Amino acid sequence: MIKFLDLQKINLAHQQEIEEKLVQTFRSGWYLLGKEVKTFEEHLASYIGAKHAIGVANGLDALRLILRAYIEMGVMQKGDEIIVPANTYIASVLAISDNGLVPVLVEPDINTYNIDLSKIEEKITSRTKGVMIVHLYGRVVFSEDLRALAQKHQLKIIEDNAQAIGAEWNGVKTGNLGDAAGFSFYPGKNLGALGDAGAVTTNDEELAKTIRALANYGSNQKYVNIYQGLNSRLDEIQAAVLDVKLKYIDAENQRRREIAHRYLAEINNPKFILPENPADENEHVWHLFVIRTSERENLQNYLTENGVQTLIHYPIPPHKQKAYEDYNHLSFTITESIHDEVLSLPMSPVMNEDEVNRVIEVVNKH
Ligand SMILES: Cc1ncc(COP(=O)(O)O)c(C=O)c1O
Repeated sequence: MIKFLDLQKINLAHQQEIEEKLVQTFRSGWYLLGKEVKTFEEHLASYIGAKHAIGVANGLDALRLILRAYIEMGVMQKGDEIIVPANTYIASVLAISDNGLVPVLVEPDINTYNIDLSKIEEKITSRTKGVMIVHLYGRVVFSEDLRALAQKHQLKIIEDNAQAIGAEWNGVKTGNLGDAAGFSFYPGKNLGALGDAGAVTTNDEELAKTIRALANYGSNQKYVNIYQGLNSRLDEIQAAVLDVKLKYIDAENQRRREIAHRYLAEINNPKFILPENPADENEHVWHLFVIRTSERENLQNYLTENGVQTLIHYPIPPHKQKAYEDYNHLSFTITESIHDEVLSLPMSPVMNEDEVNRVIEVVNKH
């Protein structure tokens, strides 16, 4: 069976270094707010090119905390609108509504699956305070026009960079394109921890300080609380592991690109629509390799029978979820057709050539 994602193999590729760090951190007796987190934050900030990185408990919290900090800073208030893609993982939308802000959904571009940048301006109202862009499946979405639009309407650009660590747009890393970015280090992400973990990057010092305090009970000095905060911290063990794995992220993303380029060149079954390969290969880190077909169920069953594990990212769009009942009547036809047709093929830096050959062969034979 070719696994969709062999997490054990991914982590065992760095077994010795990770195990040494685990033992060292365990024996140190210091598990929170210590030197491992500080070191990882410095390395992450420098990798992204941003002034600040703040480790937090997970990717959803990273995004929630950015918006919550803007509210505490008086930049946003409850009831304000944040533009977000209709075609995303629900966490992007949850971060907005959890703060009492209003998610305003925008259809994707059918070629990139990312938010259609040309459809943002028509959604801007006097209450719009931000745009959350999501680099879905590992593909960058950005443009100078978006930056200009945000400047003109004084909107914050928040990047949901959960799926695209290491991607670049014109030489700038995702996580450093907008005003603030949320990262997820969920185990299956390109940079995955051994449990939940996340981070925020930003060049805005006030925002960084506010987030750091909010994530620590609203306190920046022990037992002195300036906000009604929460507890959302990255722990020392996860930071130590992430710091080991960060060194290999570029090499691992490059291996993903090689696999993606083989799939793109060699899968030639006309029944399937392959993802677009950006002209600049740095704009994609291939977190997921997603194909589209009107015969998804049939294809997925066939692949399972032939030993190829696949997943669906994602089967139900946020606006059709029970959690967003108020949005259920809305129609986003491009988003809905994507959710009906997508299927993710195996993709990871530890797939070998035999496995890649086999996926290509089986898909072409359908
Ligand atoms: C696009 C996107 N945003 C946000 C998240 C939330 O991250 P986490 O699972 O670490 O909370 C994820 C991953 O689950 C994601 O894929």
